[in-house]
Amino acid sequence: MKVFVAGGSGAVGRRLIPQLVAAGHDVAATTQNPVSERLLRELGAAPVVCDVFDAPRLAKAVAVAAPEVVVQQLTRLPHRLRGRGLARQYAANNRVRAQGTRNLIAAARAAGARRLVAQGMAIWYAPRGDGRLHGEDDPLWSNAPEPIGTGVRTMQDVEDAVLRDPALEGVVLRYGLLYGPGTWYAPDGDVAEQVRRRRYPVLGSGEAVYSFLHVDDAAAAAVAALDGPAGVFNVVDDEPAPMSTWLPEYAAALEAPPPRRLPGWLAKPVAGRGPVSWLLSLEGADNRRARETLGWQPRHASWRSGFRADAQNT
Ligand SMILES: NC(=O)c1ccc[n+]([C@@H]2O[C@H](COP(=O)([O-])OP(=O)(O)OC[C@H]3O[C@@H](n4cnc5c(N)ncnc54)[C@H](OP(=O)(O)O)[C@@H]3O)[C@@H](O)[C@H]2O)c1
Repeated sequence: MKVFVAGGSGAVGRRLIPQLVAAGHDVAATTQNPVSERLLRELGAAPVVCDVFDAPRLAKAVAVAAPEVVVQQLTRLPHRLRGRGLARQYAANNRVRAQGTRNLIAAARAAGARRLVAQGMAIWYAPRGDGRLHGEDDPLWSNAPEPIGTGVRTMQDVEDAVLRDPALEGVVLRYGLLYGPGTWYAPDGDVAEQVRRRRYPVLGSGEAVYSFLHVDDAAAAAVAALDGPAGVFNVVDDEPAPMSTWLPEYAAALEAPPPRRLPGWLAKPVAGRGPVSWLLSLEGADNRRARETLGWQPRHASWRSGFRADAQNT
């Protein structure tokens, strides 16, 4: 099948293209950076140099590719995350998600595509405080403290636009916290660097529950979503885990010293009130719907083996 990937050079896109090609699909993929053209070609895609904010050019590129399915893997997030400047960084991300997805939907529709698969977030559910994992029907945290709240509302709008388009089958893959090559948690990534310096502490009681996802499994879910049911799916691994459990194991996999602990009230002035409140409220997500109806299951069922495998592969 012909597949058009918007964001082919990102952390997920780079794992997705080879999986699509291996499954026999004919892939065109975008980058805005001509330097990444060669990378896309080596991965097996026909490169398309295009800024998704340039709607006419994007429409033309999608029309030429004539895909059956368009896959949106667009983000604009920095490789180094710091509390200060986060609002500005999120604003850029929100813009590419909102405007970029709108332009992509219009282009997909005009080109006669059947389906649009888009990246969502399984780590933005409104906290409930009852210890249960979140299912897809739970509300997102639209009034989360800033700058998270604006990010969540933007994502809600993106999801609505994808799922309610009358001309396209819409699929939203709500990814967990991505780890693996090219991410913050990769052994050469920003979180790993901070953990090695003991600057990435267990926050508060350490009870906040994180749902991780390896980039290979994020890509595999996008391949699985080319067919089958439309709708929203949590795409997370099988072992949501409290920070007090995963962070020491992550540090051990990196052969880094054990993390320190830091009360939330002390972390907020440094890392920002909104982001820290959000991290302290994480509750984890349930992947049952994706497993049962998408025919997807994580190859890295747990971050435990995933973190170790990544550390050994570098
Ligand atoms: N759920 C999660 O935990 C999650 C989700 C997403 C990202 N992240 C993290 O964010 C960090 C950065 O992610 P990333 O490496 O995927 O890179 P990124 O810089 O966020 O870019 C992702 C993709 O979007 C494309 N893109 C962005 N703006 C565009 C525009 N205006 N027009 C066309 N394409 C555009 C990029 O293309 P170009 O080649 O033009 O740059 C790239 O292919 C990583 O650490 C990743 O783990 C986490």
